[in-house]
Amino acid sequence: VPIPAPDLKTCVRTTEDMKGLNCCPPSTEIINFELPEVKTLRTRPAAHTVDQKYIENYKTAIELMKNLPEDDPRNFWNQAQVHCAYCEGAYYYASNDCDGTKEEIQVHSSWLFYPFHRWYLYFYERILAKLIKDPNFALPFWNWDGKDGMYLPPIFEEGRSSSPLFDHYRNAKHRKEKFVLDLNYNCTDSGKTDEEIKEDNLCTMHRQMYSASTGKDLRLFFGHPYRKGDKPSPGAGNIERIPHNNVHIWTGDPDWVREDMGNLYSAARDPIFFAHHANVDRMWYLWKKELHCKDISQDDWLKAEFLFYNENKQLVRVNVEQSLDTDKLGYKYDDDVDIEWMSNKY
Ligand code: C2O
Repeated sequence: VPIPAPDLKTCVRTTEDMKGLNCCPPSTEIINFELPEVKTLRTRPAAHTVDQKYIENYKTAIELMKNLPEDDPRNFWNQAQVHCAYCEGAYYYASNDCDGTKEEIQVHSSWLFYPFHRWYLYFYERILAKLIKDPNFALPFWNWDGKDGMYLPPIFEEGRSSSPLFDHYRNAKHRKEKFVLDLNYNCTDSGKTDEEIKEDNLCTMHRQMYSASTGKDLRLFFGHPYRKGDKPSPGAGNIERIPHNNVHIWTGDPDWVREDMGNLYSAARDPIFFAHHANVDRMWYLWKKELHCKDISQDDWLKAEFLFYNENKQLVRVNVEQSLDTDKLGYKYDDDVDIEWMSNKY
């Protein structure tokens, strides 16, 4: 049986790494998601390749989102709380209707990881697009799987605190221009040269993607099955473990319990979160498109549900199945970006 959508009325304060935060959204009438009518696909660009016009547009959109009233569920802070609520023990569902047993909803370390984050970015992008009245707006992705993208993308640092894309809580050392991102980072910087780190990163990407592409064990890619009644976090897939987790830790400020990016409750308070996750989502896209792999076909996965506020402040019920085809959601990733880790060399 699939994991049901949370009941927002029973949302509680967080219980995990950071206890007692109130990340609960308001509860209101729920509508069911319907696929949009798609005329042209929006293209998500690599963050290090965007032009000035794109940057200005993106900044304006984030600025408008930050300036929305505090009680607007589309407000930047409230959007960050969506992640907090789904990750830190705020949501429960009745796992047994007879004895009142409840189980937590957790979207990490299981097969809900890819679809939850795809939906999260989808609505976030629709909100930004609506705010700047540009239906073609598409989020940038942090191209950490390519040598030219293995840095903190400069657009998030440019202009420092005067920019809505800036965040104070990032690792001071790693935010320096041209400091190479180590996809295997585990709280200490390696003594390797920049070129060695980049080559290692490409080997890591090759291994993580190809070892999960044989079709024999879909858990390697998606993470372990997580059904109604199961304990949360049964196990993560390859990319979630490495490099997804490492990039979070690498970006967060070690002096502030790794806020923002290095901790689940705070990660989405940094606008860079959405560029990081666009690339995680792109790995799912490439796994199907370039490595010709197929999604899980079990209903326990396909019918799992989530709730999100959309660009019109409506609370929408979505399921995993509706997220599988990015064409139907109306977006794609820039296909001109070279995928270096696909080379046999690695
Ligand atoms: Cu929901 Cu990258 O974490």
